Amino acid sequence: METNNTNSDFRIVTASAKDMNWISTMTKLQKWNPGLKDAVAFHLVDPNGFFIGLLNDKPMCCISAVKYPNTTYGYIGCYIVEENYRGKGYGLRIFKHAMDYLTGCYIGLDAVISQQKNYEKSGFQFAHAVRRYIGIIQRKSQICKNIRYAKDISMDKIVEYDARHSFCQRTHFLASWIHVGTDQCLVYIEDDGTIRGLGGIRLAVDGYRVGPLFAETPEIAENLLYALCPSESDTKVDFDVPEPNSDGICLAERLNLQHIEESRRMYTGARTKLPLPNIFAFACTELG
Ligand SMILES: CC(C)(COP(=O)(O)OP(=O)(O)OC[C@H]1O[C@@H](n2cnc3c(N)ncnc32)[C@H](O)[C@@H]1OP(=O)(O)O)[C@@H](O)C(=O)NCCC(=O)NCCS
Repeated sequence: METNNTNSDFRIVTASAKDMNWISTMTKLQKWNPGLKDAVAFHLVDPNGFFIGLLNDKPMCCISAVKYPNTTYGYIGCYIVEENYRGKGYGLRIFKHAMDYLTGCYIGLDAVISQQKNYEKSGFQFAHAVRRYIGIIQRKSQICKNIRYAKDISMDKIVEYDARHSFCQRTHFLASWIHVGTDQCLVYIEDDGTIRGLGGIRLAVDGYRVGPLFAETPEIAENLLYALCPSESDTKVDFDVPEPNSDGICLAERLNLQHIEESRRMYTGARTKLPLPNIFAFACTELG
């Protein structure tokens, strides 16, 4: 651990690789259902962007403030204080520390509804709601011929396609996600080499999490979703659909998935809007 900020008994440090497991456990205790390899995959994107708060040398709060390398886009997540220490000012201190780390960046986050007002006080604006759906689906025996493993497609094409659905080129994130974070990443690619869809799935504490799921049509999204399932037997999945994507909501409901919770996507100010009708699921709540 590396010390960044000290006072008598509370200090904030940049998380070590080992501390990442503690952060992951904190998200698990919050029932945020982290992916099993999130700790490693996230850390590879920005090894300086995870912080823990120590009280008398004991970790008791955390936050992530991932700065996408070579960009001015950042994302806040994993903002948690252990229950016994809430309401004593530690959360706000680590939050400010994370915001300082992201100085100069355009910043996004997914807020639990109860925190929306606080984030507004910290300069964030509501963009849209995000609905989490959960349920059982099965892989279909016939996989569409245009679906290929992301590992077989050149990275520059994937980075360019992904960048149309985020605010920057997420090269490190995609390399980490394809190699480490997910169990499978697939692209939908036309015969002429044009990518028209991208999906990932990862084993989580409870079932599998799908993300991202980007597609130019609902049919492509559905095909990718089926192909991502690891087997033809029942697979429990969840994913986060931006509420303005009515096709995404229809798809989830047609598959009889259950809408279990809602969060609020917020950003520090307005920017060119994301193509939400093509975003059937965000990659993950922690990195955007
Ligand atoms: C959200 C959480 C991290 C806040 O930590 P905390 O230590 O309890 O918060 P603090 O004691 O530092 O809050 C001090 C004050 O700052 C406010 N505050 C907290 N975080 C803030 C933020 N990011 N921006 C602005 N204000 C904030 C609090 O509402 C409080 O205001 P008050 O004094 O008027 O009541 C904590 O409640 C928690 O772990 N909750 C469960 C996990 C969770 O929901 N995380 C948020 C996910 S989006």
